Amino acid sequence: MDQDRDTEREQRGRRAAQIIIGLCVLVILFVAVWAITSTNGSRAMRSLSTTAVTAERPAAGQTGDASMKQGQALFNDNCSSCHQTNGQGIAGAFPPLAGNDTLSDAGLVVRTIKNGRSGKITIKGQTYDNAMPAVGAGFSNAQIAAVATYVRQSWGNSFGPVSEDDVQKLLAQKQ
Ligand code: HEC
Repeated sequence: MDQDRDTEREQRGRRAAQIIIGLCVLVILFVAVWAITSTNGSRAMRSLSTTAVTAERPAAGQTGDASMKQGQALFNDNCSSCHQTNGQGIAGAFPPLAGNDTLSDAGLVVRTIKNGRSGKITIKGQTYDNAMPAVGAGFSNAQIAAVATYVRQSWGNSFGPVSEDDVQKLLAQKQ
């Protein structure tokens, strides 16, 4: 009888110890999960949601704001010395791109950027017989798309965006 009570007490003690250990493990787990979600976890969640947002936007070189920004940067670095930042050009030397209806021809714009252009043209009543070098010869199709989109959509122009796929097709056509 006494022995039975002893083993019963022992068992109860062991069970109590197990419960305490179990509770400790739970508390440690809880703290660990809390620590992860409040630091790395939330950072991971944030980067996940950023990825989701960027995935919804059009790829570079297509039609989004990113493309216009890239196009503007490319234009200011490679084109504005002649055509001017405001797209007005210099009368008699460099034709304006602002309000220039020729830019409605996306193929002409894309091929001019890639291959340059020369020969007599008349823009807004002014004759130009000059040569534009192949400024975009080293540009990727995405960069050509961005700068073509920029010049067709800026300074009051609204000839529509040009995608990277468009560039590939238009470059395959003859000038
Ligand atoms: C060194 C000066 C110079 C630079 C730099 C330059 N262009 Fe030109 N661009 C010209 C000249 C000159 C013409 C006209 C050529 C002619 O007389 O046929 C021209 C023509 C054009 C045309 C055709 C206009 C039309 O009405 O036929 C487009 C479009 C154009 N440029 C876009 C660009 C873009 C975009 C860039 C930058 C990637 C650029 N140009 C850089 C000098 C330049």
